[in-house]
Amino acid sequence: MSYESADPPREVWDYFFGGAGTEVTMKKNRSDWDAVVLLPRVLRDVAKVDLSVSLLGARVPVPVVVAPMAFLSLLFPQGELVLARAAARHQLSFCLSTRSGVPLEEVARAWHQSCDEATSPTGPRPQLMLQLYVMRDMGITESLLSRAIAAGFDAVVVTVDVPYIGVRRRDRANQLVIPDEFLQANVKEELAQQSDDPLVSFGGGVSSAKYSRLAQNPSMTWETVSKLRDASASLPMVLKGVLDPADMALCGGMNIDGVVVSNHGGRQLDGVISTPRALHAMREVERLPKSLLVDGSIESGSDVLRALGLGAGAVMIGRYFARALAVSGESGLEEAMSLLVEEIRVGMALMGLDRLSDMGSQQIRVPGWF
Ligand code: GLV
Repeated sequence: MSYESADPPREVWDYFFGGAGTEVTMKKNRSDWDAVVLLPRVLRDVAKVDLSVSLLGARVPVPVVVAPMAFLSLLFPQGELVLARAAARHQLSFCLSTRSGVPLEEVARAWHQSCDEATSPTGPRPQLMLQLYVMRDMGITESLLSRAIAAGFDAVVVTVDVPYIGVRRRDRANQLVIPDEFLQANVKEELAQQSDDPLVSFGGGVSSAKYSRLAQNPSMTWETVSKLRDASASLPMVLKGVLDPADMALCGGMNIDGVVVSNHGGRQLDGVISTPRALHAMREVERLPKSLLVDGSIESGSDVLRALGLGAGAVMIGRYFARALAVSGESGLEEAMSLLVEEIRVGMALMGLDRLSDMGSQQIRVPGWF
């Protein structure tokens, strides 16, 4: 199966698979994963292997979370539902974007049903997460949070690297227009009450979006996170989009359960540090949150091993799945997911590991990194 050709229109393809600026960071994410060298051990009994790890205090079958992606229904009809169900069948965790084409309650119902069918009641179970933007209207964000709690989500992932959407040249050139009335099912009523605000736009500067209350809040600070932390009650909270060890240290001191080391797939500020290098730098931080995740051009089982070797407990993967969905729909996803899990399973055995959670820094080298 080839993932190279695309059915969706060019502007949709570019929106998902392009990045900000001249796309240096997007490419650097990839080339820096390639620079991480694996050092396998031999003659260890790997007749049985255990892929499960601990994530946010619970055991998950595989250390992979499908990354939140906005507007998936642009790529494939009801893309969020199709992707969530496929993830559950393959025991992968799933993070739904705020900007989903299917309401979060519907995704949660489908998720729990597929999970019940695919998972043993006593074994590890993948997690369902909701990605949250802190919007200009905080009430909308808080209402999404309460709905996530009521719908049975296991965690909330707050995006912290989007005070404004990054400037994406492809989207500008394509005059990308997101038909948000159809694609923001979680905030339909709020959208209806919007008035056009030409100062706030989406998708690299070009959009029909009516966004004054729904746009990301550029005034968001650590204090906002702390308030959300209180509002999220017992639901674990993850921050997504941290790159600097100083910010990671703040998370560690704030009772944040997890952090995703992320540059938003190179879609925000072009030229920032790649995620493998940023993750590598986190080893200096004394008090890390319970769970450390990483994303950014993770495409294979070897990349998952590399990420775990650099200190991540799990990874988020977006575009690899989006590409499979866009090109070959459900069958593409089946193939992409089973291939990935097989690569992880065989890869860990070839590393000499019978427990994936034992993958550590002694089993990688990163020549020439600071
Ligand atoms: C939204 O999160 C985007 O990157 O377009």
